[in-house]
Amino acid sequence: MGQLDGRVALVTGGARGQGRSHALALAAEGATVIACDIADQIASVPYALASARDLDETVAALRALGERHRGAVVDVRKTDQVDALVDEIIAEFGRIDILVANAGICGFCEVDQISDENWTDMIDTNLGGAFRCIRAVLPHMKRQRYGRIVTTSSGAGRAGMQNLGHYVASKWGLIGLTKTVALEVAQLGITANAICPTTVATPMVLNEATYRVFCPNIENPTLEDARPGLEGLSPMRVAWLEPEDVTRAVLYLVTDPGYTSGTVIEVNLASSAGRT
Ligand SMILES: NC(=O)c1ccc[n+]([C@@H]2O[C@H](COP(=O)([O-])OP(=O)(O)OC[C@H]3O[C@@H](n4cnc5c(N)ncnc54)[C@H](O)[C@@H]3O)[C@@H](O)[C@H]2O)c1
Repeated sequence: MGQLDGRVALVTGGARGQGRSHALALAAEGATVIACDIADQIASVPYALASARDLDETVAALRALGERHRGAVVDVRKTDQVDALVDEIIAEFGRIDILVANAGICGFCEVDQISDENWTDMIDTNLGGAFRCIRAVLPHMKRQRYGRIVTTSSGAGRAGMQNLGHYVASKWGLIGLTKTVALEVAQLGITANAICPTTVATPMVLNEATYRVFCPNIENPTLEDARPGLEGLSPMRVAWLEPEDVTRAVLYLVTDPGYTSGTVIEVNLASSAGRT
């Protein structure tokens, strides 16, 4: 018996990284999981997003746990694609119990250097994508009088951060959206919470664009060059979390009986302990 037997879960950005880890953990607890991802590049993003092969690997790992799981290619910036996927899930499974709105992009730029394209892609993916998914699942969750919504914000949703103005704006906004949803559905058996991980070892961080931010004076910086800078972000002097460390917080929120809502769980190596 799993804690999520009979539940149907949608995980966005599920092709790799944290999304893959969340998807596999939910499936291991018995949920039917639909893992979706853009599985393509967004031109303004300075590192490779997930590929179709990444998504296939997630689906294969899910299917090893049960044939019922699905993958889907969906760009969360596109309302028609998000709505069509949710319609398909309802048509096939009859319900949707869990949304893990995890898809996201990052990039580094000082505010006066952010292009319209950078700004629009960032806000539209990280904030708009979560909004579209929440909007699509809510009518079904309301009908069921049951739902668990988890959005992936960030440590960058709790503070200002240099070179990340567009990312920070999207992640602060996501917390406001999540708390508002929690209030609107508070009497309907639905919870909405945000998680704020600090640095996680995924391709979003393990790439040259990130290393260059931490090592501006090194021509071709490597992970080892960036490690001291990453360690310096955390009072624990731990450079990064693994995706599974964040998944524990997601599992807590989606298995909660329904009283934890409108909150933020920071999985962050004590990095916000010095802030109010
Ligand atoms: N890695 C970190 O240090 C860190 C820290 C805090 C929060 N986060 C957040 O965690 C979430 C997961 O990121 P990750 O660390 O696993 O990085 P990742 O790049 O491995 O995963 C993000 C996934 O989202 C997908 N994606 C991007 N744009 C999309 C779109 N428009 N539609 C659908 N899918 C899209 C990507 O293809 C990728 O598979 C993101 O929201 C990110 O902002 C990451």
